[in-house]
Amino acid sequence: MTNYSYPRYRLNTNLQFYGKFITSLLNPLAYQKKPLAACLQLLSQQFQSEQILLFPQARIGFYHYLQAVLQKEDQVIISSYTLIDMVNMILATGAQPVLCDTAPHKFTPGLTEIKARVTDKTRVLVYTHLYGIVEDLTEIRHFCKQHQILLVEDCAQAVGCEDSLGPVGLQADAAVYSFGALKNIVGLYGGALMLKDSAVFYAIQKKMLHQPYLPLHRLIEKFLFCIFYEILSHPVIFSVFFKKISFAFDEKGHVDKIPKLKKVKPEFSDYAMHPIQAALILNQLPFLNTRREKAKFFAKTYSQLFEKKSNFMPFFSFDPAQVFTYLQYPVYYRGKNKDLKNILIKSKIDVNIDFFQNISHLEEFKQSYFCPNCEDLIEHLILFPSYSKLSKRFFLKMAKVLEML
Ligand SMILES: Cc1ncc(COP(=O)(O)O)c(C=O)c1O
Repeated sequence: MTNYSYPRYRLNTNLQFYGKFITSLLNPLAYQKKPLAACLQLLSQQFQSEQILLFPQARIGFYHYLQAVLQKEDQVIISSYTLIDMVNMILATGAQPVLCDTAPHKFTPGLTEIKARVTDKTRVLVYTHLYGIVEDLTEIRHFCKQHQILLVEDCAQAVGCEDSLGPVGLQADAAVYSFGALKNIVGLYGGALMLKDSAVFYAIQKKMLHQPYLPLHRLIEKFLFCIFYEILSHPVIFSVFFKKISFAFDEKGHVDKIPKLKKVKPEFSDYAMHPIQAALILNQLPFLNTRREKAKFFAKTYSQLFEKKSNFMPFFSFDPAQVFTYLQYPVYYRGKNKDLKNILIKSKIDVNIDFFQNISHLEEFKQSYFCPNCEDLIEHLILFPSYSKLSKRFFLKMAKVLEML
């Protein structure tokens, strides 16, 4: 595949994944509890915690946690730059989401931005680790402890990442992990919740005990979507229809193009993870190391390249060889990201410049939570491909083009 172009992201799936889904569908044993127990055991080792619960999606784990710890009128601080559905989970519990700005030239808030939003009603702070870049939360954790605020780490995009304490998530009172279709480990849908507080853990576990499994037809639909996406993003197809597919990805390729607030019970909140989802996660976990190694190589090379260029600024200051990026490598471009995207298109390089939107722009938040740093981020953030299916050859070719900028 020497002269083909690669798209901004491709799924972290392989033949084993597709084979496992089809054989599971046909195997009556795959519908029994066993894979769920095995998956829990492996994830407990992976996340180094005994108190893990499985859910059909990460957001559902987050929703059940909020339900367990929040009371009406409590406030939950969350970044203005995140998945709108996480904000919707807060609304669904009846609590009030409080939008926090990102730090200057960062895609996550710092302690200064968090402090500016704390009131005597603040009960939970959600810290989202984006693009697999895991920040040290020591200061934030101490601040939360001092003010009796529960800290939740959103590790949806950081499965397999580590911080100074070990596997990501251990700095907080609770952590959520995702196994959705575009994640490091794909279970079609899927989520896990890690809890420090045993009482909360047992309460949610008890509640989940009699929930039916996520309906099979939802998994089949997602499976078909994955195959469709696999075809569109295949380098041969993508290179031939570069402009059309790249445009389609811009318009429809991400969840939050037009973020909408919803104050309703989440769609999958009455379901448990299906054993087939657990079987897929089990099947894919052994590939995590190879994916991590490849991502580290990309992160290191991108970092070395952008270090020499004054028009780019890194988002993190630690060793790039430790970074397990989530599908794409984020960098701050001092010019307008739209302009750079247009230049790169001419060399058939597809990049992403609008993964999430600035939620504080929504009518419902405009008056109360102005987030200027986030606004700046939206104009300058650029996401370069770094997923495991990206060919090294194409990557190095792309690096040469970037060097000449
Ligand atoms: C930052 C972030 N948080 C949470 C989620 C929710 O994960 P799930 O789709 O498993 O609910 C996602 C999914 O895209 C995400 O990107």
